[in-house]
Amino acid sequence: MRVGVLTGGGDCPGLNAVIRGVVRKGVQEYGYAFTGFRDGWRGPLEGDTVRLDIAAVRGILPRGGTILGSSRTNPLQQENGIRRIKESLAKEEIDALVAIGGEDTLGVAARLADVYGVQVVGVPKTIDNDLSATDYTFGFDTAVNIATEAIDRLHTTAESHMRVLVVEVMGRHAGWIALHSGLAGGANVILIPEQRFDVDQVCAWVTSRFKASYAPIVVVAEGAMPKDGDLVLKDESLDSFGHVRLSGIGEWLAKQIERRTGKEARTTVLGHIQRGGTPSAFDRWLATRFGLHAIEAVHDGDFGTMVALRGTDIVRVPLSEATSKLKTVDPRLYAEVGVFFG
Ligand code: F6P
Repeated sequence: MRVGVLTGGGDCPGLNAVIRGVVRKGVQEYGYAFTGFRDGWRGPLEGDTVRLDIAAVRGILPRGGTILGSSRTNPLQQENGIRRIKESLAKEEIDALVAIGGEDTLGVAARLADVYGVQVVGVPKTIDNDLSATDYTFGFDTAVNIATEAIDRLHTTAESHMRVLVVEVMGRHAGWIALHSGLAGGANVILIPEQRFDVDQVCAWVTSRFKASYAPIVVVAEGAMPKDGDLVLKDESLDSFGHVRLSGIGEWLAKQIERRTGKEARTTVLGHIQRGGTPSAFDRWLATRFGLHAIEAVHDGDFGTMVALRGTDIVRVPLSEATSKLKTVDPRLYAEVGVFFG
């Protein structure tokens, strides 16, 4: 049996741990051979492959990024995309494919499995933690740790100058990184995409924090929106899955705060720092287990499924179900954290 492996979408810490888990168990326990495809769906589209064996996965567990490369290539948008993928899988004599990705990559995997009969098993990844079928995606814990450390550091410089520091974190549709890092880092305001915010209320929290002789830290997810405004975009371009490039809400908010409160406000945009570097111990653990269970699903012939974390168990769910709904922050959970605002 020959198994293809690809990593698609935005990279995230733990991808290499999955690849290692898949290959180690596949070779050692089942005697499988592997082919890596480069840069997500671009690999099978263009027949771009890379050697993938035990030697290739040695030493990669603690390394961020992905040894296979990644891209946001959408084969459904390419001329004869599906036919080209099927032809390159046939040429490489691939019997099954392990696709590691977020909603976009796995959405393509679900279509390939359900409509075109390709034997695919999915592994969920995204630092945003917004896939509904799994309790956690790997990469999220690392991103939260990085953002929390940044907030810890920003407290001391904010207090030295008695100014507002606005921290913009990733989170396109869901505010999980903002919520977890904001709570762990003791932020005074946390703004998430799921709930539109009132700039006057934010300014009231900022002012009350100064009254207590502390400098406020405002954590804002890149997808957060003011009540009477819109998403703040980096530019007008769309990626091949139709997503806009976000970023800028932090800068916009800092200006509003300065104008309305008269207090100096600065912005830190954490950006891709949240996605880079070595995965946390939790992400290495989760990613490795996902890899081991994904190859087991291949061995069982349980295609069209995705591995997922439920409690402490790894389960399998239909790929189509896994990608049909986003996991967003429950308003009750957000309200719970509100006691620390201001
Ligand atoms: O999808 C995960 C994510 O981290 C989003 O939060 C963010 O908008 C996006 O990736 C940015 O990715 P890139 O700069 O690679 O397009």
